[in-house]
Amino acid sequence: MSTTSSTAWLRELLGEDGRRDPYPLYARLHERGPAVALAPGDRHAAIVHGHDAVGRVLRDPTFHVLDAEYLDRGSTRWRAHPAVRTMQDSVFNDSGDHLARTRRVFGQAFGSTRVSTLEPMITRRTDHLLDLLAAEGGGGAPVDFMTRFALRLPSDVIGEVLGVPEADRAGFPERVRTFDAILELGQRTFRELRAADTAAEELTSYFAGLLAARRAEPEDDLISVLAAADGLAEPVLLANLVVVFNAGFRTTANLLGNGLHLLLTHPDALDALRADPSAASAYVEEVLRFDPPVHFAVRYAVEDTEVAGVEVPRGRTVLILTAAANRDPGRFADPDRFDPTRADNHHYAFSAGPHFCVGAALGRVEGRIALARLVTRFPSLALAAPPRPRRHFMLRGYDRLEVLCR
Ligand code: HEM
Repeated sequence: MSTTSSTAWLRELLGEDGRRDPYPLYARLHERGPAVALAPGDRHAAIVHGHDAVGRVLRDPTFHVLDAEYLDRGSTRWRAHPAVRTMQDSVFNDSGDHLARTRRVFGQAFGSTRVSTLEPMITRRTDHLLDLLAAEGGGGAPVDFMTRFALRLPSDVIGEVLGVPEADRAGFPERVRTFDAILELGQRTFRELRAADTAAEELTSYFAGLLAARRAEPEDDLISVLAAADGLAEPVLLANLVVVFNAGFRTTANLLGNGLHLLLTHPDALDALRADPSAASAYVEEVLRFDPPVHFAVRYAVEDTEVAGVEVPRGRTVLILTAAANRDPGRFADPDRFDPTRADNHHYAFSAGPHFCVGAALGRVEGRIALARLVTRFPSLALAAPPRPRRHFMLRGYDRLEVLCR
């Protein structure tokens, strides 16, 4: 197999064109097989993008998330950064029995049984935001769907599930956005890291206060359940609260924004959904396959191993392009076609293996309810202007999506 400099692939992926539209690059990667080897001095040992290979790496116990042991090999300076520490104390960078235990606690709260009981609340919240869209855009004025709806619904829903009082929620979107900078691939500026640290500290101290309040006086919410849960150390609990709020926020917002944009640019699909809103689940799955909110994951090998014939030495990382796997022509017929009637739509938008998204059921239900109600509420909904994409590669979506709510 030939060796390509990852700096070339990554430069292209993270450059202006790649951020705007990485899919042509993914198509070229598929021409090279399921994985490409990178040079020994490169940041990653390989890029993995084939559907089967991505599934294998994500489930393979030889590959770990970038845990404290991995980070310490580079330098222990990360420990001075509250934002990085928060991520490291959370399920995202945990493994083994401890991960399984923490996930069990959160899994109960976000499993499909519990989520189905949340549907009336999600519907109520959705309809309230649709009322606001109707009022603001009623006279024909363009309304920004991202700030007025897509970012608010997940924040309302996760806030309600966790038990964050409504009056406290206003400060969350900005802090979450600032914290998210540490998830991005590539260099962060020192200023961004400092801002993320401050956001992590503020969110942590907010949740510490809420946890103490619920310990004194429990309510019917997740914070009260967590406050009473045995065996989870306080820093771990707090880190997971911060991270769960973040993880459920921009991802779901981007599912809604990417989904609405796809519908408005595929009029046949939009008409079909309007005619049969009960098909919304299949639309959500196709949005998640076709233009997922999260594009990649990174893992490192704890032993010398290989992926699809590419050697990965112990201690080296692989860049796993889950969004590219979703467009693998070996797995999906006509992968670049948006087709909500697709059968057997097994995508990796929620990852796989021990770190499979804790909030997948919740994200799916929010997407289904919001998209179905949106298109039926506004029979002539249309784009008011070309959308403004975010510059993030990790969490892809739109910063602005102006629509006419009519
Ligand atoms: C459409 C919406 C969503 C998408 C596309 C999404 C995507 C993902 C992905 C790809 C991962 C795995 C990352 C990896 O393998 O390294 C993940 C993990 C996670 N997600 Fe989601 N997510 C969504 C909604 C949510 C919601 C609503 C919540 C909150 C309840 C949530 C909580 C989490 C948590 C806690 C993890 C970490 C799990 C672990 O590492 O064990 N997500 N999500």
